[in-house]
Amino acid sequence: MTTNDNKSEVISSYEAYTARVGKEIIPCYEPAIGQEELALITDVINRNWLSESKYTRQFEAELASACQRKHAVCFNNATAALISGMKALGIKTGDEVIVPSFAHSADPNSIVATDAIPVFADIEAATLCLSVETIKAVKTAKTKAILLISAYGNVGAIEQIANYAQANNLFLINDCAPALFGHYQNKPIASYGDFSVLSFFADKTITTGEGGMMLSDNLELINEANMYKHDGRKERGVDIIDRRGYNFRITELQSAVGVAQLKKAPFFIKRKKEILQAYRNKLKGVEKVRVFEFNPGGDIVPHRVVIFVPAANPLIDYLSAAGIGARTMFMPMHSQPAYRDLHTFPVTEEIYKTGICLPSAPSLTAEQLEFVCQTINNFYQPL
Ligand SMILES: Cc1ncc(COP(=O)(O)O)c(C=O)c1O
Repeated sequence: MTTNDNKSEVISSYEAYTARVGKEIIPCYEPAIGQEELALITDVINRNWLSESKYTRQFEAELASACQRKHAVCFNNATAALISGMKALGIKTGDEVIVPSFAHSADPNSIVATDAIPVFADIEAATLCLSVETIKAVKTAKTKAILLISAYGNVGAIEQIANYAQANNLFLINDCAPALFGHYQNKPIASYGDFSVLSFFADKTITTGEGGMMLSDNLELINEANMYKHDGRKERGVDIIDRRGYNFRITELQSAVGVAQLKKAPFFIKRKKEILQAYRNKLKGVEKVRVFEFNPGGDIVPHRVVIFVPAANPLIDYLSAAGIGARTMFMPMHSQPAYRDLHTFPVTEEIYKTGICLPSAPSLTAEQLEFVCQTINNFYQPL
């Protein structure tokens, strides 16, 4: 295949995607931004300083406090925070990092970016997360760390896994990108692990468009990660390049949006819980549908409402044709071209085939929710 053929395939896929999303009358997710964000962005513009400054420091301080962490550092996205954090831990060539196959590509990609080896593991069906058993099944003498993921905002046996990591001298990296404000046994999910990361992509609990945060109680680790973020130096203005780093900085405009979004977080959390409850009520009578229940040991903020059905794709197509933004769940990483791996992970594969993310934006109206549930009902019980 020539480069041009590749290009046209890429363009046509992208066009098909934008055409489909453009026709959605009920988006899978949309951010809620408005006058509060505009006021702070205007302040940044009036101050004429667009790179990290007071709003970035405020955003970090407020998130460290919300997550009961001693330190927080902003990044341009969660992937950059993962790479910097892993490099700061000293993860290096040949080290193995256990990661669920049921993951965002950012997870194995960031492991590979540190020259380490992603070792995929299965998840448990009840939580969609790693368990001590699925970790043990793939652990080797080269395992250096466990990369835990809060799939769709949920947690599994995080306490047990933290104890297992400690007992086995492994680092625990907590990718809780979509789990801000979620708690497990009265502790913020983001408070677990040698470090944790959050994402502020447009579909997250709070958004800065793109953005991420690394949180830790270990100042040495934070200082080290900060160098990877700042082109390998301790800070802008310092000319000594201690590390082979990157520019992973956020902009002050984004941080200002983040500070404004944080003020609205109680509303977002309330809406996400209300929307989940409303779907539960309305889909109760649809025999083929099971609404995913988040870990009852926690106070979870559902990132998405997830349902399980006999086969996801036919229902997604039906919902899409009605203008409803429904999505598949994480496609198993071990079956992706970039990571093709001969293992089979039955739970991960089954979840992908049967799971669907339903529209769950805070802006979702009662009428829209009714329409989504009615359309699901019609699919299984045609009139
Ligand atoms: C679990 C998880 N990890 C990592 C990421 C990547 O975040 P970012 O796009 O901010 O790098 C995402 C994004 O959706 C995610 O859901």
